[in-house]
Amino acid sequence: AEHVPPRTLDGGRTVEAIAKYIRDGKAKKIVVMSGAGISTSAGIPDFRSPNTGLYANLARLNLPYAEAVFDISYFRTNPLPFYILAQELYPGRYRPTITHSFIKLLSDKGLLLKHFTQNIDCLERQAGVPGEKIVEAHGSFARQSCVVCKSPYPADRMLEAVRKMDVPHCLRPECEGLVKPEIVFFGESLPDEFHDNKHLPSEADLCIVMGTSLTVQPFASLPGFCSESTPRVLINLEQVGSMGSRPDDVLILGDCDAGVRRLASALGWLDELEALWKET
Ligand code: APR
Repeated sequence: AEHVPPRTLDGGRTVEAIAKYIRDGKAKKIVVMSGAGISTSAGIPDFRSPNTGLYANLARLNLPYAEAVFDISYFRTNPLPFYILAQELYPGRYRPTITHSFIKLLSDKGLLLKHFTQNIDCLERQAGVPGEKIVEAHGSFARQSCVVCKSPYPADRMLEAVRKMDVPHCLRPECEGLVKPEIVFFGESLPDEFHDNKHLPSEADLCIVMGTSLTVQPFASLPGFCSESTPRVLINLEQVGSMGSRPDDVLILGDCDAGVRRLASALGWLDELEALWKET
């Protein structure tokens, strides 16, 4: 790929360079990697932002430590904190952001190779990104099953349980194990779909990382799988992980919705993007 000018923190010149790279048809296999930061403007708190992050606000659940709410061994002893949180996080009450619509636009233009998300809010699907383009690396609320015998649990019963905050148990009388949505808890392995697709960043010709602290492995390793000749763009409030360490890295620091609008504008796609988001 043509050498993208080295990054500048104001994102000005380099946004233009990335837009030119895409306009010149040099980015046909874009991988996008995202986290909770792309859903905060939808009203869903992220995890680690000071004060507003979920982990700063779980004290009321008197957990031994914040991440216990997503720890499988803690869940087995006390599933209630998770179900209290599930009531707030359950999909269906939130609208995708313009950042989700930008990912959908990349897909509509045939430029999206794969979108890896750590989010469980399903807002990518809701924004219209095709299912086969999405890897939900940390699972989602789409399915739920018994943690003991793995038998599936009906979605409508789950919705009812979360609404009433009544911890659901396996329907098999001889089992009665705890039921949990197929969200990847700490201590559980990521879905096969992640491992089957984690080679794709090495095939990408552009990588866009948005709204993640890149603190949780193995997801945080994905940007490092991009080849040295692949420009990597970070659209995030803060510099994270190894982003910015390579000469072709571009840091667009600040709110991701503003960063996405700036990139779309440089691409001449802003009206199309706003119209797409409006109908979402
Ligand atoms: N615009 C841009 N960046 C934002 C915005 C925003 N509006 N809001 C938050 N951010 C940034 C934060 O600065 C932070 O760098 O997004 C990042 C969010 O980081 P986390 O809260 O750690 O969320 P995430 O990276 O998705 O967490 C990863 O941790 O708890 C586990 O499984 C859980 O999937 C989650 C994983």
